[in-house]
Amino acid sequence: MHVLVAGGAGYIGSHTVVQLKRAGHDVTIVDDFDNSKATAVARLEELTGGHLPLHAFDLCDPDKTEALFASERFDAVIHFAGHKAVGESVSEPLKYYRNNLDSTFSLVRAMKAHGVHRLVFSSSATVYGDAAPQPCQEEFTPLQSGGGPYGWTKVMNEQILADVARATPDLKVALLRYFNPVGAHPSGTIGEDPQGIPNNLMPFISQVAVGRREKLTVFGDDYPTADGTCERDYIHVEDLAAGHLAALEHIDAMTEPVRAFNLGSGVPTSVLGMIKAFEAATGVPVPYEIGPRRDGDLPITYADPSRALAELGWRTTKSVEDMCADTWRWQSANPQGYPD
Ligand code: UD1
Repeated sequence: MHVLVAGGAGYIGSHTVVQLKRAGHDVTIVDDFDNSKATAVARLEELTGGHLPLHAFDLCDPDKTEALFASERFDAVIHFAGHKAVGESVSEPLKYYRNNLDSTFSLVRAMKAHGVHRLVFSSSATVYGDAAPQPCQEEFTPLQSGGGPYGWTKVMNEQILADVARATPDLKVALLRYFNPVGAHPSGTIGEDPQGIPNNLMPFISQVAVGRREKLTVFGDDYPTADGTCERDYIHVEDLAAGHLAALEHIDAMTEPVRAFNLGSGVPTSVLGMIKAFEAATGVPVPYEIGPRRDGDLPITYADPSRALAELGWRTTKSVEDMCADTWRWQSANPQGYPD
């Protein structure tokens, strides 16, 4: 297939590009480099051993998006493009609603106009909010925002895509609900490169380990969990990327126009558990202190990944140790992330 990867220079998009190429697909990347670097694409070309067609523009521009679809024939689209910082979305909601919805509108309009009928969308476990029984199952309704306006853009995108898929003959949409993506390509050449102070646990741990930050603050140790810290379902980005390939390969066989799939391991790990696993896998100490709880954090959330196994033939294969070792290979080789 010729796959358009929207947001292909970003963290999850870039790892998926490598696997698409390895599986023999043609890939075209569109990315506005708002939260990614051109160096990532250069590294992808080294990893995949060939030129990667790249279009640098913002998908919110419907004319540019239409022009791209008019100039090339795509068999499928994987849509990773979007803003993803929960805290920023609370202070700048319009930025999030506009970007994360307009990009989908442009893409879906162009797909309809040009008869492209396979779409894989980056959703998030945040759609389960705080009311879903654990482990989270795809049937759970109503969906909620577990993460401010950012989370609502995932809920809204899911609803919009479901409505469009049901109204468009042949269009098939796979909604992939990610749990907590971490890790990096085992080569250490591509990985997660957050701008500014990381919001998420694993990049914070690895920046402390590499000496960019003094210590980690553990957000609360008085939760009703085994060690008192929050538990999450961490998933290696390589497994996550493989989930996109599995979705693409099975999308034509979907009996419904739209289907949601959890991408998680089904096994939760605590914050202290991740720190210990990182120290054990790398031999590098991670100084930390216990701080207050962070607003909005759930004590525990994890996936029931059985639908993805039954219908996509996909399951995670990498351990928490792999996640830590691969994160460290990337972070220690690129202490400041990608060079400008
Ligand atoms: C967060 C978002 C979620 C989003 C996801 C994207 C919130 C409430 N949730 O998920 O909507 O889809 O990122 O990747 O923001 N922790 C610390 N110290 C730190 C950082 C994190 O103790 O410096 C803890 C958190 O309290 C949490 C765990 O580590 O228990 C994981 O946090 P994080 O990586 O931010 O992921 P989520 O909160 O699960």
